[in-house]
Amino acid sequence: MRTRPLKVALLGCGVVGSEVARIMTTDAADLAARIGAPVELVGVAVRRAGRARAGVPEHLITTDAEALVNRGDIDVVIEVVGGIEPSKHLILSAFANGASVVSANKALLAKDGAELHAAAAKAGVDLYYEAAVAGAIPLLRPLRESLAGDKVNRVLGIVNGTTNFIMDKMDSTGAGYSEALEEATALGYAEADPTADVEGFDAAAKAAILAGIAFHTKVTAADVYREGITEVTAADIASAKEMGCVVKLLAICERAADGESVTARVHPAMLPLSHPLASVREAYNAVFVEAEAAGRLMFYGPGAGGAPTASAVLGDLVAVCRNKVNGTTGPGDSVYTQLPAKPMDQVITRYHVSLDVDDRAGVLAQVASVFAEHGVSIDTVRQQGRDGDASLVVVTHRATDAALSATVDKLRALDSVRDVASIMRVEGE
Ligand code: HSE
Repeated sequence: MRTRPLKVALLGCGVVGSEVARIMTTDAADLAARIGAPVELVGVAVRRAGRARAGVPEHLITTDAEALVNRGDIDVVIEVVGGIEPSKHLILSAFANGASVVSANKALLAKDGAELHAAAAKAGVDLYYEAAVAGAIPLLRPLRESLAGDKVNRVLGIVNGTTNFIMDKMDSTGAGYSEALEEATALGYAEADPTADVEGFDAAAKAAILAGIAFHTKVTAADVYREGITEVTAADIASAKEMGCVVKLLAICERAADGESVTARVHPAMLPLSHPLASVREAYNAVFVEAEAAGRLMFYGPGAGGAPTASAVLGDLVAVCRNKVNGTTGPGDSVYTQLPAKPMDQVITRYHVSLDVDDRAGVLAQVASVFAEHGVSIDTVRQQGRDGDASLVVVTHRATDAALSATVDKLRALDSVRDVASIMRVEGE
């Protein structure tokens, strides 16, 4: 074992950073044995000094992240601050100083991943970010390395724990969205401002990262179609139950059947109870990968939290430190396929459309003809009468989003249709 320690700078000492620092200290001997060199935490950059940070020696704390990254002797920078700036600037400075970077920053990787990878390659260092997607679950390295000899066609995942907790509560208790969100907030699953989670921004960033790695192409968060869970109602959940389904916020990345393009999307969807993702409860994450030779794989585990996310960060730390010791780097960005990301209107899937209609002769035929006019084939229809009006639930076969949207626009214009109560995609078959 080499005796000169590898010097590590930690940017951020919140829920994840403090766990990283703790494990680096308590497990120092094991980490050194696995890497082949000791690792030394030489500085911890925080936004505000003066707060007690359990397990982090006071003399390591600094508010000057810039100076820490630029001191010239750092081997690895761990970035667990999040957000675009100053993280991006600090990571680029780390590369310029010859340091490898381990990051948990999904928003930054989903926006500027290509630029950061290029900067790391130019500097001859590593950029690893297993913790950016699905917390503790080993997912990016299996996709990038273990499946590098296979062809991934589809990635379907629950990659946001907060929204899965809310969907699960609505399903198991019959609660509405607001009530379930309140419980998620009280239990610490949802943040005071839950926008990033409930509107699907967090999952969309993760979908972009997953699609890029799975399909060897560049996908950014701007390429990902996004709908959150705020419009999902107790009635949607009840209707899903009647069909033997649950509602989940899914991240879906697909290679087109002709292999010429990809799509990435995040939206609530009905999923049959028989699908393995349907049984993912509470705040857990799970990702289902379909590859040509491997078949179907499922990755499951805690997708957030200090210690679970630190586990992924430390796995990356060991990997990049091993590379440093061996004078090499790991696999970088693989974007050779250069497949375009297609817009949502070209996505093909099934739909559950719930309508409030007049209950009189000819209405069902009228509704059915609008679906037929747009080439959208109906799979099942369920109608329930209520004193002069009726609730009509139509489930379609596979159709493009564009055809379904045109169908719904036309349905809205019919006198006999009082309301299009909800539209939800049906996945996982
Ligand atoms: N807020 C995320 C979640 C965890 O609820 O899963 C960090 O990405």
